[in-house]
Amino acid sequence: MNDPLRVAIAGLGTVGVGVIKILEKHKDLIAERAGREIIISSVSARRKNQERGVDLSSYRWVDNAADLAGLADVDIVIELIGGEDGIAYELCQNSLKNYKSLVTANKALLAHHGAELANLAQDSNVALRFEAAVAGGIPIIKAIGEGLAANELNLVYGIINGTTNYMLSQMEATGKSYDQILEETDALGYLEADPALDLDGIDAAHKLAILSSVAFGTKTDFDNIYIEGIRHIKTIDINYAKELGFRIKLLGISKYENGTLSQRVHPVMIDRNLAIAGVMDGFNAIVVDGDFIDRTFYQGRGAGEGPTASAVVADLIDIARGHKGPAFFIPADKLTVAKPISINQRHGAYYIRLNVSDLDLAITEITTVLNDAGICPDVMLQKASQDDDSFHVIMTIYEIQEMAIKDAVYRINELSSVIETPLSIRIESL
Ligand code: HSE
Repeated sequence: MNDPLRVAIAGLGTVGVGVIKILEKHKDLIAERAGREIIISSVSARRKNQERGVDLSSYRWVDNAADLAGLADVDIVIELIGGEDGIAYELCQNSLKNYKSLVTANKALLAHHGAELANLAQDSNVALRFEAAVAGGIPIIKAIGEGLAANELNLVYGIINGTTNYMLSQMEATGKSYDQILEETDALGYLEADPALDLDGIDAAHKLAILSSVAFGTKTDFDNIYIEGIRHIKTIDINYAKELGFRIKLLGISKYENGTLSQRVHPVMIDRNLAIAGVMDGFNAIVVDGDFIDRTFYQGRGAGEGPTASAVVADLIDIARGHKGPAFFIPADKLTVAKPISINQRHGAYYIRLNVSDLDLAITEITTVLNDAGICPDVMLQKASQDDDSFHVIMTIYEIQEMAIKDAVYRINELSSVIETPLSIRIESL
């Protein structure tokens, strides 16, 4: 058998500990599959003396994670620190420069510096792998980059943030308010250290940037992603969506066409009968469309110790087998810069909910605004609010330009009968 592959782990949180557990439990199985043993040489974390449920005594402890990049007896650095800059970035750059392969779960880092790191890996002729960065246990990077490599891809979309999917599912299942569910989700420890990453769609956007690059061979372009989170979604909208045959999901959607790239993360209403609409709780799901395979659909656990660590170890095995092809599946210097398409160019359907005081006046005022704008709603429902003596007016409008609906909603918000900022959700027929 070949020499053992020696790894160093930076970051011993949930995922780092999970990696140790898998490498210990499946030592023989992994050696057989990888063709060589994978052994842990060194570990590093912020706090040494912390109970983690694993015995670290046989591994070299390194106080400063940055030092792992310089160790002669390390072949692969596993970066599980997180964060788009700082020590994680420094460690990743230096590891690659020092001819060490790199495995990382750091979605923020890749979304911002993916192309640069891919170039460093290429220059040093080492591997850069990040299966764990997107959708945890679903091997979506490998599926796109290898399994679908024969296809031209134009569309990738999915539920790529488990926490918000859990929250939306719980709002529907329990009828509880957003704030109540947020509190419960927090108590379960599901939220990122900075909850805005989940709630404002940023985490999903990080993952979407990576998926786009892998699928379309474009440089990661986080800055041009339109991002909207779920904070404004109310349980009542989830109920109205159901009545209209929809379900609300936070989706990341990426479309590539002739060198242009549209990337967006926002809540959508989708047909309740779609497979992806049935993906509930903390699960992730991704749909990839290819010219020779049509649609493919992947579902699984997108977070947590086991699924994420499983993805990290799969990357280690891949490298142990000698695979060190380009990180984004085409040479790093061939990654292209796509022309970003703004959300303002979207043409599609919308759900609008208004909260109004005087229903008759509101209908007259709203109809005037819509007529002036040449907008004709396909559905217009009127409901008494359950909370007070106000009313809800719910409209769906098909085939409308993004700017036209924004303009109309702005005008409607100015009306005397409208007492709350209108809620708009895009309806997608994916
Ligand atoms: N906060 C992330 C999520 C963790 O909820 O999907 C996994 O990346």
